[in-house]
Amino acid sequence: MCGIIGYIGENNAIDFLHYGLKKLEYRGYDSAGVAYFNKNQLTVYKKVGQVDNLFDEKLLKVNSNIGIGHTRWATNGKISTENSHPHQSFSKTITLVHNGIIENCTELKNKYLKGINLQSETDTEVVANLLEFFYLKNHHKLDSIKILMSLLKGSYALAILFNDDCENIYFLKNRSPLVIGCGNNCNFISSDTLGFEKYTSKYIEIDDFEFGYINKKNMEIFDKNSKKITKNVKDCANFQKINNKMQFEHYMLKEIFEIPDAIKNTCELYKNFESIKIINKNLFNKIKRIKLIACGTSYHASLIGEKYFREIGFDAYTEIASEFLYNKQIWQKDTLYIFISQSGETADTLSCVELCKKHNAKTLCITNVPTSRITKICDYTLPICCGPEIAVASTKAFNGQVCSLLVLSKYLQFIKKINIKKKKLNKKDTHSTSINKLISKIIKISKSININTFIRQVKPLTQMVKESKNVFFVGKDYDYVLALESALKLKEISYINSVAYPSGELKHGTISLVDNNTLTFAYITEKKLSSKTLNVINQIKSRGGKVVVISPFIELQKFENIDYFIKLPEVNNYFYPIISIIPMQILSYYVSVSLGNNPDKPRNLAKSVTVE
Ligand code: M6R
Repeated sequence: MCGIIGYIGENNAIDFLHYGLKKLEYRGYDSAGVAYFNKNQLTVYKKVGQVDNLFDEKLLKVNSNIGIGHTRWATNGKISTENSHPHQSFSKTITLVHNGIIENCTELKNKYLKGINLQSETDTEVVANLLEFFYLKNHHKLDSIKILMSLLKGSYALAILFNDDCENIYFLKNRSPLVIGCGNNCNFISSDTLGFEKYTSKYIEIDDFEFGYINKKNMEIFDKNSKKITKNVKDCANFQKINNKMQFEHYMLKEIFEIPDAIKNTCELYKNFESIKIINKNLFNKIKRIKLIACGTSYHASLIGEKYFREIGFDAYTEIASEFLYNKQIWQKDTLYIFISQSGETADTLSCVELCKKHNAKTLCITNVPTSRITKICDYTLPICCGPEIAVASTKAFNGQVCSLLVLSKYLQFIKKINIKKKKLNKKDTHSTSINKLISKIIKISKSININTFIRQVKPLTQMVKESKNVFFVGKDYDYVLALESALKLKEISYINSVAYPSGELKHGTISLVDNNTLTFAYITEKKLSSKTLNVINQIKSRGGKVVVISPFIELQKFENIDYFIKLPEVNNYFYPIISIIPMQILSYYVSVSLGNNPDKPRNLAKSVTVE
């Protein structure tokens, strides 16, 4: 997964490419590169490392009014200058940047490019050479692109420069995102509206198998039959308002501070739940079973959702997306498949949606990105309104996803009750009662969240965590899921090995690792289960391990075997999963920073994982 950007206009493309690539760096930051025309001369400049590393004194001196750029997360081929984009064809007729993966690359190379000596290990260089192959034959740019498109299998968003044309940037796309930014005497092409939103909020979404070109004043877009099409110009001013770090040192900290708003805004949207298009009463009437599918943090939110659905009597199961594809599925008409994805772009999750569609299954997605691919391929979309999440480690989206699942579960419970009473839903029923009360309660909780209070509590633990080789997280039921998410958060940005266990499972093997160098965090948010987790704490302490408890129950502080107590505000049981993760999101952040890491861009990771 990578970010691509292109600019053509009256001003210096280098500045726009710099801005765009910085904004797209969340998509990958192993290496970066640009290609630009200067007095009809095409130059490619690329380097390993982050975007700022590329824009050195030499590049910043360049003046050009057309260019393309790329920021890479290595998939095909190691991190190296040769594998960085842009890539050029053998005789440099074609220069292009690519986001995606070409699945039939070897086959195409063997068929069309025999004897061509490739410079890199990438599929993208094959694409550049294929396009050159067709262009040198028919001398028609759009026709060549169309032929290329008919041959490529896989995902791609491509921005292309032809060396005999310094007035147009060409493009084509399938499965990877691509938008055109419509400026004043300039146009942009980008993986995301973030790449140009400072300069224009007007944009056009390119759909699969569309291709065309942009120039300073115009653009032409064609469908796969080469029919010229006119597309709606949309406005991103609203959903891309808050995209700078403001006073915060990192996006991650800013996004943690945005958790109360993320919860509140998501709930506000649900106040009029029925007005969200997804809510199709007929759909929910027929549902007997729910499967939740997601990856990473979104998977953990799904596990919470599974518990919420079970509480109201639904048969609910969660599967990790990359496993769902290979587990034998029993397709049943009355199962609803719910996909959770912050970005709406995660390849593993998208492949599962596609599999479900093949089996005519009913699909619903919960996503933070309303323009994302998942919303295009699922039957229904339930948005969360957390605002753009830039830091690679997901924080506020998790809180929003959990809220969304809680409200959805209550809505299903409501429909179920109505069904049992054989009543017909009417407007009064749906807009009143329990759901709106629930929403008001969550909004009230969101207003009471004080991030600074949490910071004061957890920051003193930074040194202790930083010095640990292994950190364990334990909990039961909902608390076990919080333990899972905490372990993921800590390991992905601190690189400290951290593992979660259900409290009761530790004694079945892992306790052998406990000694006086081990640190364990225990969640206790369910009173009825506290004695069970306290037993486990005793077992850890008697083997010399240190224990931190995260709980709303202040009386536990007196328990002698607890080394440190993090106090959660007291709320109704259902709401703990929404807020209890916050201390560990914060602590992971501070541990990462104190280890000298960049929590926004942890090593080896990228925000959206668009490869399986
Ligand atoms: O965009 P998605 O929610 O589909 O992303 C899923 C995971 O890749 C993501 O949650 C990942 O685990 C994060 N880095 C976790 O902080």
